[in-house]
Amino acid sequence: MREGKKLDLQAYLKSEKTRIDRVLKELVPAETDPLHEAMAYSLAAGGKRLRPVLALSAFRACGGDGDSDSHYRAVCALELIHTYTLIHDDLPVMDNDDFRRGLPTCHRRFGERSATLAGSGLLLLAFGVLSREAAGLGLSAQDTARAVAAVAEAVGGGGVIGGQVVDLESERHAVDRATLDYIHTHKTGALIRASCTLGGHLAGAREQSLDALAAYGEGIGLAFQIVDDLLDIEGDFTALGKTVGADQARGKATFPALYGLETSRRMAAEAVESACAVLGPAGLDREGTLQALARFILSRKA
Ligand code: IPE
Ligand code: IPE
Ligand code: MG
Ligand code: MG
Ligand code: MG
Repeated sequence: MREGKKLDLQAYLKSEKTRIDRVLKELVPAETDPLHEAMAYSLAAGGKRLRPVLALSAFRACGGDGDSDSHYRAVCALELIHTYTLIHDDLPVMDNDDFRRGLPTCHRRFGERSATLAGSGLLLLAFGVLSREAAGLGLSAQDTARAVAAVAEAVGGGGVIGGQVVDLESERHAVDRATLDYIHTHKTGALIRASCTLGGHLAGAREQSLDALAAYGEGIGLAFQIVDDLLDIEGDFTALGKTVGADQARGKATFPALYGLETSRRMAAEAVESACAVLGPAGLDREGTLQALARFILSRKA
């Protein structure tokens, strides 16, 4: 998107998704063996590809130049990680879900052992891809290490996995706002935030821009999960590709369960507003893409 031109977000999302899907297919060919068949199944099932799109958009907002396949592979690492989190999240020992991205979940199709290993395979593949591509894009060894470490920290016990632990512990328990914020900003927000900052790292952005991207990512990450909670109540199976009503059935700690639909919608909107407020002063929204993505997160139906 060039400055001055009005952004057509749907067209932007569609064209980025097409390229991301192609690169993901190249990274994980299905035909090699049963493990890769299971990995490719969950990856190819669909998905918005929002995390790589956020990283690319943050990269461009920071003045990053270049759109080689290498750039796309680097950000596709985020989609490999995200898909790992989905496969494990759906397992019977976690949320026990039968549908994902419009298809039977990985364990439903391939069995629990294969799904567990496919998830782990995707996670580790991601770090190999990210390390190799970041170095290949001209980042110094030190900056590559910093970028990779930031993603690892976002996924680990202080990030997504930490959030999943509290999410599971909180089932059928009354939680307070602080616990709910922790769950949402970690199980979902941490990878979204890291997607935004990865774009900055790959562009060689300065601290001030990285901080602004982190604040933006924090806000849209929280809003993303509040909207996920709302869609579990108000959404549609065909659009979402996953079972609705699952949160209430499992007694999950969600914003609508604690605050009701209307207040939750307002809280998501407030999180998006505060996310967008950091962009202008940091000079990160000349093209309007990050702002448009934040609003998309609020209005999405899938
Ligand atoms: C679903 O993520 C899981 C959450 C973190 C809430 P998405 O809604 O981004 O799922 P896909 O990638 O589009 O399938
Ligand atoms: C998703 O939270 C968080 C991760 C996958 C890490 P949910 O459990 O609410 O996601 P869905 O609703 O199953 O997609
Ligand atoms: Mg879950
Ligand atoms: Mg789930
Ligand atoms: Mg959910």
